[in-house]
Amino acid sequence: MNKSISLKSRPVGKPTLSNFEFKEVEKPQIKEGEVLLQLKFVSVDPYLRGRMSDAKSYIPPFELDKTISSGAIAEVVESKNDNYKVGDFVSGHLDWQEYQVSEGKNLLKVDGSQVSLSAYLGVLGMTGLTAYFGLSEIGKPKAGETIVVSGAAGAVGSVVGQIGKILGCRVVGIAGTDEKVEMLKSKFGFDEAINYNTTKDMQKAIAEASPDGVDVYFDNVGGEISDAVHANINRFGRVVVCGAISMYNATEVPMGPRVQGFLVKQSALMQGFIVGNYQEKFPEGMKQLVTWLQEGKLTYEETRVQGFDNIPNAFLQLFEGRNKGKMIVEI
Ligand SMILES: NC(=O)c1ccc[n+]([C@@H]2O[C@H](COP(=O)([O-])OP(=O)(O)OC[C@H]3O[C@@H](n4cnc5c(N)ncnc54)[C@H](OP(=O)(O)O)[C@@H]3O)[C@@H](O)[C@H]2O)c1
Repeated sequence: MNKSISLKSRPVGKPTLSNFEFKEVEKPQIKEGEVLLQLKFVSVDPYLRGRMSDAKSYIPPFELDKTISSGAIAEVVESKNDNYKVGDFVSGHLDWQEYQVSEGKNLLKVDGSQVSLSAYLGVLGMTGLTAYFGLSEIGKPKAGETIVVSGAAGAVGSVVGQIGKILGCRVVGIAGTDEKVEMLKSKFGFDEAINYNTTKDMQKAIAEASPDGVDVYFDNVGGEISDAVHANINRFGRVVVCGAISMYNATEVPMGPRVQGFLVKQSALMQGFIVGNYQEKFPEGMKQLVTWLQEGKLTYEETRVQGFDNIPNAFLQLFEGRNKGKMIVEI
C-alpha cells in the first residue's frame, strides 16, 4: 500500500481538510539509475498556502488533483543508482507520497549522527537559511543595535533572534502565547518578548521593549503587528520583509497605514526577499549555521506531528500558531 495526498480544491480564505484528498496508489518499481524513497520527515510551511491558490507568484501553483510536495527527508529503501545505497537518508523537495521514485537529482545526503535528521528541514534547512540571509544581507545588524522579530517563536524567527544575539544586538520578539514569550527569553536568549494576543497597545509595548528604537525589523507576519513596529523604526532602519502570514488567508487586500511616511521620515529601507535569491551562497550559510550549532551558540525547537495522514492537519495548525519552532511531520 502506498498513500499520497493531492490538492482537491483551492482554498478560499483559511484552508480546511476538505481541500486535500488522500489516495491509495501503486508502490512504484525502480528502473536502472533510480532509487525508491520512503518518506521519514515532512516539512509543512506557510508558503505552501500561496501555492494552493492559482495567483501568479515566484513559484508555480500546485495543480488540482496532483500530489502536493514540500521539503522532506526520506530513506533510500531500494537503489539502482551508484550514488545512493540502501539506508542513506536524503533531503529534497519531495511528494506527499509514502514511497516515491527518484533519479537522485536534487537530493542531498544528510547525516543524522550529530543532529536530528529533521534539523535539515529547519535550522540547517530552508528556514535556517532564510533567517541567516534575510538578516545578514538585508538587515545588516551592527552590534549594539536593536532587532525586532515578529513570528519570533517559529522556525525562521527563532533563528533570526539567536543570530541577532550572536552578533551582539538587543533582540525583541513578538509571538502569540505567554508560553512562546517565555521560551524566547529562556531558551533562545531574547532580551524581551511581547505576546501580541494579550497586548492592547503594541506600538507602546514595542517602544518600551526597545528604549533606543528599532534598527532592524525582521517581519514574518505583516498586518497590524508590523504597522506597530514601523512606527518605532529608527533613522536609517531596515525592514526585512520575509513573510506576511497574517494576510495569507485574506480574501481581500487588507488596508493599513501607508508605509511611505515612515520610510521617508526615517530614511528607512524596506526590502522583500525569497531565500532562493541567495542559492549560490547556501554552502556559506550552511557552514556558518553548523559552526554556531556545534559551538552551542545556536539551538532549535521543533513541534512534531505524527503520521502521514496528519500532514494536512500539521499544515493547518501553522495558521493557529500551534507550533513552537519548526513544524515537522514524522512519518
Ligand atoms: N522569504 C522567504 O524566502 C521565506 C522562507 C521561509 C519562510 N518565509 C515566511 O516566514 C514566515 C515564517 O515562516 P516559518 O516557516 O518560520 O513559520 P512559523 O513561524 O514556524 O509558523 C507560523 C507561525 O506564524 C504565526 N502566525 C500564524 N497566524 C498569524 C497571524 N494571523 N498573525 C501573526 N502571526 C501568525 C504563528 O505563531 P504565533 O503563535 O506567534 O502567532 C505560527 O506559529 C512566514 O510568513 C513564511 O511565509 C519566507
